[in-house]
Amino acid sequence: MSQAQHPFGIDFGGTGIKGAPVDLDKGDFANDRERISTPKSSTPDAIAEIFVDLLAKFPDSDAPVGVTVPGIVRHGVVRSAANIDMSWIGTDADKLFTKATGRAVHVVNDADAAGLAEVRYGAARGQSGLVILTTLGTGIGTAMLNDGVLVPNSELGHLELDGHVAEKRTANSAREKDELSMQAWAERLQAYYRHLERLFTPDLFVVGGGISKRAAEFLPMIDLDTQIIPALLLNRAGVVGAALHAAEA
Ligand code: BGC
Repeated sequence: MSQAQHPFGIDFGGTGIKGAPVDLDKGDFANDRERISTPKSSTPDAIAEIFVDLLAKFPDSDAPVGVTVPGIVRHGVVRSAANIDMSWIGTDADKLFTKATGRAVHVVNDADAAGLAEVRYGAARGQSGLVILTTLGTGIGTAMLNDGVLVPNSELGHLELDGHVAEKRTANSAREKDELSMQAWAERLQAYYRHLERLFTPDLFVVGGGISKRAAEFLPMIDLDTQIIPALLLNRAGVVGAALHAAEA
C-alpha cells in the first residue's frame, strides 16, 4: 500500500495530540509520529484547528482519519465529557472534523481504540471470549471485546464502588493526587478488578495507559481468578486503534 493510502490515526489526549499514518498490515506507524501540545482551551473548534495543522504535515494523503476522544461516542456524536471541556457534549465530532479537515473523520472512544489495537496486534491478540481492557490514566477507560468484537462505550471506570465513582479513587491520577505507594494503589486496583470480575467473568484483563509500562511494580500485587496482563502497544495504542477504526468505519 502506498504511503498516501494508509489511514491516519490521531490520539487526542489531555497533554498531547499525536498523529501518524498507520500501516495496518504491521499495526504500527507508517511514518514518524507528529505531536502537538493540547491547548489549554480544548474546545472542539480549537482541537479541529490543530487537526488541520497536523494533517497538513502529511499533504499527500486523502485516506480516512480516526480520532480518539476521552468520552462516550455514539454515531460520531460525543455524549460525555468527564475529563474534557463540557462543550464536547452533543458535538457531532465526525461532522465537525470532516468539514474542518476535508478528510473523512471518524471519532472513537479512546479506550475502545486501545482495545481494538490490543486485540488485533497486542496483548490480547488471538484471545477468544471476553477481553476487558482498562486504561489507567486521568480517568479509567474500558473496552469490552468478545471474540474480537467491540461492544462500544462500556464506561466501566464510572462504576460505583464503595460509594465512589471508581475512576476518582482508582485511576492513575488518583494515585498521584493521593500520593499513594504502589502497594496502597494496588489495594484499590484489587477491589476494582475483583468487582469487574464478579460482574463480567472475563477471560482476560489487559491493563493499558501510560502507567502500564510500570506494570511490574503493581500487577503482581493484584490477586484475581482472571489472568491480568499489561498492554503491549503502550503509547501507540490510541493512534493505531483510531486508524483501524477509521479504516473499518
Ligand atoms: C471517560 C471515558 C474515557 C476514560 C479514559 C473516562 O472518564 O468517561 O470515556 O474512556 O475516561 O479517558
